[in-house]
Amino acid sequence: MSVTIVGSQLGDEGKGGVVDIYGEEADVVVRYQGGDNAGHTVVLGDETYKLSLVPSGAIRGTVGVLGNGCVINPETLFDELDTLRDRGLDPTVRVAARAHVIMPYHRVIDGIEEEAKADLAAGTTKRGIGPTYEDKAGRRGIRIGDLVDPDVLRDRLEYVVPQKRALASDVFDVEPDETFNVDHLYETYRAYGERLADEGMVVNCADFLASRLDDGDNVMFEGAQGTALDIDYGVYPYVTSSNPTAGGVAVGAGVSPAVVADGDVIGIVKAYLSRVGTGPLPTELGGVEGQTPDYDANEGGDDEELATYIRDEGGEYGTVTGRPRRVGWLDMPMLRHAARTSGFTGIVVNHVDTLAGLDEVKVGHSYTMTTRDGETRTLETMPPTTEQWGRCEATLRTFEGWPDVDWQAVADAGWDGLPDAARTYLTYVSDELDVPIYAVGVGPGREETVVLTDPFA
Ligand code: IMP
Ligand code: MG
Repeated sequence: MSVTIVGSQLGDEGKGGVVDIYGEEADVVVRYQGGDNAGHTVVLGDETYKLSLVPSGAIRGTVGVLGNGCVINPETLFDELDTLRDRGLDPTVRVAARAHVIMPYHRVIDGIEEEAKADLAAGTTKRGIGPTYEDKAGRRGIRIGDLVDPDVLRDRLEYVVPQKRALASDVFDVEPDETFNVDHLYETYRAYGERLADEGMVVNCADFLASRLDDGDNVMFEGAQGTALDIDYGVYPYVTSSNPTAGGVAVGAGVSPAVVADGDVIGIVKAYLSRVGTGPLPTELGGVEGQTPDYDANEGGDDEELATYIRDEGGEYGTVTGRPRRVGWLDMPMLRHAARTSGFTGIVVNHVDTLAGLDEVKVGHSYTMTTRDGETRTLETMPPTTEQWGRCEATLRTFEGWPDVDWQAVADAGWDGLPDAARTYLTYVSDELDVPIYAVGVGPGREETVVLTDPFA
């Protein structure tokens, strides 16, 4: 059977921790989209592992698969594998032959395009994600399967690299270096191909997963980023270039949608909101220079102190980039949209401990959107355009805050051990979405989780 883990907000909901807990009974953990833009942190005993590409489950000895919907930077892949091996682990990772390769020029172009875009910049991680998916859709990409076939690799490079050189120099006025040199790229990427082949890492993902499912294995699909960063369902153009929503699993891993539908689809929710990058954010508190629109005009707006408190308590600094994240109250229209697009069968709410100690906790229950004609409308879910979203004001509901308590004791005691006010808050979220709570995260460690339902049981 399968379990799918989907971020219901803007990434960084604590998916890695959930994959770690539920992944214990998984035989295979599969990423179906994204690349090394996805920072996930897994705490195992006293050790903290920060990964950006290798599936979290690989830390525990589960087979990790990077599906065809992923974009793979081989340098990151081998760095992470080497680091894990140096720390005494023995990760097993398989990579889809159909997955596209992030080339050095993709990273360079990601950086220079972001500069050029000004107000349209998404604040990307500059890992070359967007440019790689562009080349995939433009049918000029290089795939993992091409790295192990040197003749094909050279042909592809000879076609695409001169275009990239011209783009860099003629459009963006950047002096092309070895990043745009066919021979250099050929040698480097052929060597990655050899290592992939030597380690037996390249698979036909669809066949591989079909046979594991036939054997009765438990397969977990690990989404990266989140629903509001989905290229179709997110806040376009301030999105990533893939589909983190559950629909992405079928095409990104090569399984039937029925495989997803037969299992659980679990939405991961952070008890508040965080965002790395630009674009509107109706429930934002305070603001972050360079990310919050009109930051200078408002100097971050009200609630700066509260925002800083939540940011520091929650460790809201990018795993990959170290950037301070924007923070805000929980946004229910965003969650309703997420629950619907992915068909959540359960949710996990993380970071409930982070909000502890506040007098009151608010949520954006609905939006009041002012149309271009100056009329107002109440919305229960996110509007389809980001311009409309930018004209939404959150209608807040206020909940009583809960105290800071011994969260390990709470985790041991279960649901009834949670402070009353926290349970009221969680019950509201679950009722509004009409989706049961499967677990509640009350601390960064895997033990600090109230588990109510185990999807593989
Ligand atoms: P890209 O995925 O690097 O192209 O970035 C596109 C947008 O998605 C930017 O706003 C990033 O900050 C955001 N983003 C990408 N990956 C993550 C993630 O793992 N967590 C949070 N935000 C992300
Ligand atoms: Mg992250």
